[in-house]
Amino acid sequence: MNNHPIGIFDSGVGGISIWKELHNRLPYEDTIYLADSKNAPYGAKSKEEIVHLSCKNTELLLEHGCKLIVVACNTATTNAIAYLRGQYPVPFIGIEPAIKPAALHSRSGTVGVLATKGTLSSALFHSTSKNHAHGIDIIEQEGTGLVELIEAGQGSSEHTKALLQNYLKPMLDAGMDHLVLGCTHYPHLIPLLKQLLPQGVRIIDSGAAVANQTFKVLEKERLLASDHGVTTHTFYTNSDVELLTPFLTDVNGEQQAFFKDF
Ligand code: DGL
Repeated sequence: MNNHPIGIFDSGVGGISIWKELHNRLPYEDTIYLADSKNAPYGAKSKEEIVHLSCKNTELLLEHGCKLIVVACNTATTNAIAYLRGQYPVPFIGIEPAIKPAALHSRSGTVGVLATKGTLSSALFHSTSKNHAHGIDIIEQEGTGLVELIEAGQGSSEHTKALLQNYLKPMLDAGMDHLVLGCTHYPHLIPLLKQLLPQGVRIIDSGAAVANQTFKVLEKERLLASDHGVTTHTFYTNSDVELLTPFLTDVNGEQQAFFKDF
């Protein structure tokens, strides 16, 4: 048993969609979340910059005694997780676009992937597509501008809706029946996506799979927490706390959100 917190980071509020899945699956765990909103979006940065920012976030979480780190960002996972694993002594759990289940269940043979430029151009994304989507047409779409709008609390605005509609059109025209959300910010767009997508198109994200994998690794490494009373959840943002708090609804346990300059 180990009651140290799980550390989680993202370029902003996106990873809160993952945090929610983790909290549901692992209710006895304390957590520390870093929203590096000041440096969002990661998706437009070079691999070197993404690795540098991921190291900075990891070191801060390790200073807080985290026993395991969830890289709740597809862009940071696909560009930096191999480096992080080689550099720091704790287990890392990452997130990648869920191409495999989408390809497995697709009937039309066409799957759409909405993700950042950084994720779509990464070697890890290419090898996953190659290995797990034989005979499937993968239609890639960069979600340029969406992360910024979500970070600004504009995730349900008319402007966001129009942008999303543009991005979905080529994928719908090609006949996709599964839409893979390849960025942890995008689950915050699900209400809009449900308005825009025909009923037959399934939305796939990787949150539950990440939470299951985290459970498995904690169990295997004997790092699961005991039931130690009320859990604590600390959220740090290096931007405006007011923009973070609306995402923290339906949380059991003690949660606090702070500004921190990191
Ligand atoms: N939420 C992140 C992801 O999953 C990062 C998006 C960004 O900062 O560009 O890719």
